[in-house]
Amino acid sequence: MRDFERKEMRKMGFHDREREIKEIMNILNTEPTLITFIYGPINSGKTELINHLAKQLPENYVVFNVNLRGKFISDYRDFVRALFKIEREKTYKDIIRKISEVSVKALNFVGIPVTEDILNLLFKERTYEDVFEFLEDYFMKIGENKNSVLILDELQVIKDVKVDELLIYKLFNFFIRLTKELHLCHVFAITSDSLFVERIYKEAMLQGRCRYLFVDDFDYETAIAFLNKYKFGEKEKEMVWEYVGGKPVYLVELANAKMNGKDIEEEVKKLLKIRTNQILSIFDEISLRKVEYSEEAIIEEFKRFENEEIIQYDRMNKEKIFLVERNILFIDPIQRTVKPQSKLDLLAIRNVLKCERKK
Ligand SMILES: Nc1ncnc2c1ncn2[C@@H]1O[C@H](COP(=O)(O)OP(=O)(O)OP(=O)(O)O)[C@@H](O)[C@H]1O
Ligand SMILES: [Mg+2]
Repeated sequence: MRDFERKEMRKMGFHDREREIKEIMNILNTEPTLITFIYGPINSGKTELINHLAKQLPENYVVFNVNLRGKFISDYRDFVRALFKIEREKTYKDIIRKISEVSVKALNFVGIPVTEDILNLLFKERTYEDVFEFLEDYFMKIGENKNSVLILDELQVIKDVKVDELLIYKLFNFFIRLTKELHLCHVFAITSDSLFVERIYKEAMLQGRCRYLFVDDFDYETAIAFLNKYKFGEKEKEMVWEYVGGKPVYLVELANAKMNGKDIEEEVKKLLKIRTNQILSIFDEISLRKVEYSEEAIIEEFKRFENEEIIQYDRMNKEKIFLVERNILFIDPIQRTVKPQSKLDLLAIRNVLKCERKK
């Protein structure tokens, strides 16, 4: 019984995101015309949001969810392997029939289901055009009965994959074909790589063919409502907001700590100490000449956040790019703003500045 209770308690339910869900539902309720890019800081809950929503969709939708995280993709074969999933026991006809059948909720597939024979054929063909042509036909068949939703998470994984030309351009062309031209399939591309979003944003071929959906950490009310579920005291709630803001991943961690009877003040301070030391370690790399930036220039960037939480940028510089690559800063190229990846990063940056002054 005890074990059972513990297990039940540890299961964290999905929290809120009403505004974002409504926005995505509005997109899904209309014919696909644009590619949707979902972006936001690290660990803001982008994947969780789309996965949760995909499970709630009614039976006239079918979701194909391809997550490229941790996948090593360097050529055509790797890419094809990442896109598809073999359904061994079925023929191609059976697969299409299964997808087209009515069920209570939307079918959710991890990877696009195909037979082994088809996958082997696609491996042999060796051109992206064949894959995209095959998929066009696939979505066309399904489209007779269902609305398809294609999700590509961690799209930045393939940002530099080149065969004859960059794969990403071929993929964008395919997405445009599925949405704007044929209205066959909703396409959601997710990434937390803000430099990649910047590249997409200035990409001429995507002008007027996509929309951007920003998924940020929880705002104050949402974060407090989350903490209320786990019976945080008033002081604890304010302290959590002060230290980690609305970053879901930390809120979940702290809710677990709370359920385990840990001291919340100690926990948040521990998190801040770890993050401060991680940021300080950049200066070790500079001293050891492992990175080419000067300590002064990095400090200058940090100083911008001494009194501000978010700044408007005029021009990008290489120090900012470096700090974005290190996941300390997050840039929003659409708003032309820069901010620390989380409240914890902001406080850590301010701690680093204090350490500098003491020197
Ligand atoms: N709405 C939510 N309700 C409850 N927990 C959430 C919610 N959103 C995110 N989380 C928690 O935060 C963690 C991080 O979320 P998620 O992996 O979706 O972030 P992400 O933005 O996709 O991160 P990345 O930048 O690494 O892709 C999840 O594992 C989950 O525990
Ligand atoms: Mg994610």
